[in-house]
Amino acid sequence: MADKKLTTEEILARARNQDASGDGGGAPESAAEETPAEGTAAAAEPVEAAPKPAAMPSSTADILAAARSQGKGGEAQKSAPAAKPGSTADILSAARAGDAGGRAAPKKPAAAKPTSTADILAAARASKAGGGGGEPARPAAAKALPKMSATVTPAEERPSVADMIKAAREGGPAGAGALPPKPKLPSKPPVPKGKNGEETSRRSFFSVAFGWVLVPFAVAWVALGAVATVWGLAAARFMMPNMIVEPPTKFKIGPPSDYPPGTVSTKWKAERGIWIVNTDQYNGKPMIYALASVCTHLGCTPNWLEGEQKFKCPCHGSGFYINGVNFEGPAPRPLERVGLKLAADGSLEVDKSVKFQEELGQWQDPASFVEVS
Ligand code: FES
Repeated sequence: MADKKLTTEEILARARNQDASGDGGGAPESAAEETPAEGTAAAAEPVEAAPKPAAMPSSTADILAAARSQGKGGEAQKSAPAAKPGSTADILSAARAGDAGGRAAPKKPAAAKPTSTADILAAARASKAGGGGGEPARPAAAKALPKMSATVTPAEERPSVADMIKAAREGGPAGAGALPPKPKLPSKPPVPKGKNGEETSRRSFFSVAFGWVLVPFAVAWVALGAVATVWGLAAARFMMPNMIVEPPTKFKIGPPSDYPPGTVSTKWKAERGIWIVNTDQYNGKPMIYALASVCTHLGCTPNWLEGEQKFKCPCHGSGFYINGVNFEGPAPRPLERVGLKLAADGSLEVDKSVKFQEELGQWQDPASFVEVS
């Protein structure tokens, strides 16, 4: 039995040799003897003369064709028509079976044959190991495999990304040097405690100070500001003069025809404080004049009594004729006239800024009356 694990090339070479020997009509077990593996027991046997075929298949296609033709008409493998190779795996298994089973080349049932290349290689190695005894020869890559696996950490033992980040932040071995350690913040100063043991903070201190000190001061300042504002407004009003809005002293009262002879018009008494009188009872001349409705006693407003044809003061009973001369009561002098003239437009124009007193002889002034025909 061979004590060395066969490679795929060796298996293919044996298959080619087997095919070549089949074409020559020789025994099938002679193929294994013609190309013995190095270090095997068969290698110690003398090699019989087995001329290699001149047209040895070199490609996989040739090998497959040779195997199929061998299955069809080969005399060396007539005993295994049911195990006729149809695929590459079958061909390889048939070739290996010939190698593993020894020179007798027992035919394995098709169901027991390996189906994949890995199975074939495993079966070939197992046959090598079981037949030769001892530790089978392992390729260099297989020998190096344990060394590589020794350096690889199993998946369940590997730290996760989260663990590595956490370890880096904590300065652990996984993240040593990755992140600088965080500086420690200074601790807060202890909170002072009051007499009763309760904690007094700065906020409570300000609240107490605001409640007992600042609030009264604020109220006082607000009150002082309000008083100062009122005083300022009063001083400003004091500095302004007292003005009385009065109507203009000059105004027109209409044409002379509006005032018939022998009548007293009270139309302007309430609005302008004058009576318009049309009479000839002062000096016998018909004229129109304006009398001020102010009692010469103490300044009350007399009333015109149409039935009595006189002005009567309601305050102390002074009486005045239609021409304004006083005749009863405490009034010391006649009523006063105001200025009157005929304007350019033919209307009468009154001027209250001018006064005419009878005791002073001012009623003779033409500005104090308008003659009418
Ligand atoms: Fe007119 Fe005295 S005020 S009588």
